Amino acid sequence: MSFYGWSKVDAFFEAWTDAGFKPVGHLVWQKGYASRAGYLRARHEQAYLLVKGNPQRPAKPLDDVRKWEYSGNRFHPTEKAVSILTPLIQGFSQPGSIVLDPFSGSGSTAVAATLCGRRYLGIELEEKYVTYARNRLDGASRYVRGKTTSAA
Ligand SMILES: C[S@@+](CC[C@H](N)C(=O)[O-])C[C@H]1O[C@@H](n2cnc3c(N)ncnc32)[C@H](O)[C@@H]1O
Repeated sequence: MSFYGWSKVDAFFEAWTDAGFKPVGHLVWQKGYASRAGYLRARHEQAYLLVKGNPQRPAKPLDDVRKWEYSGNRFHPTEKAVSILTPLIQGFSQPGSIVLDPFSGSGSTAVAATLCGRRYLGIELEEKYVTYARNRLDGASRYVRGKTTSAA
């Protein structure tokens, strides 16, 4: 799954194709607010679903038009809400599998993976965001451990 900036779609497509991916779906999230205004009021986010080979399709495919939720950008200027990511992780991975986010920012993907019972790999250039992500992940792991313990 690759979120992307629509004005750079040609560069994204070149990179995806060079890496051996092919698009099999496109998702649009509708925002209840405009994140900026120019020729248009920007009220959507978008991502391509990309595959290599012919992986198994989900038993219950997700809708490709979805409702955006604002994260509050507390830890990162483009922070995604965990609730945006959890359906994607549940739809396209199995419990215990590894979710990779090579541009992990505030760590929302890794937090969502933890809450979904997946493992994660996050890569981030800026140290301050790595620190935020680690702190958030400590909280998410404690939450999951607490739930597991009380259920046992
Ligand atoms: C759009 S933000 C990701 C935000 C993230 N999804 C979140 O919810 O917080 C992209 C991130 O990629 C990081 N980044 C940019 N180039 C990178 C690189 N070459 N390697 C690792 N991280 C990189 C940036 O520092 C930035 O935090």
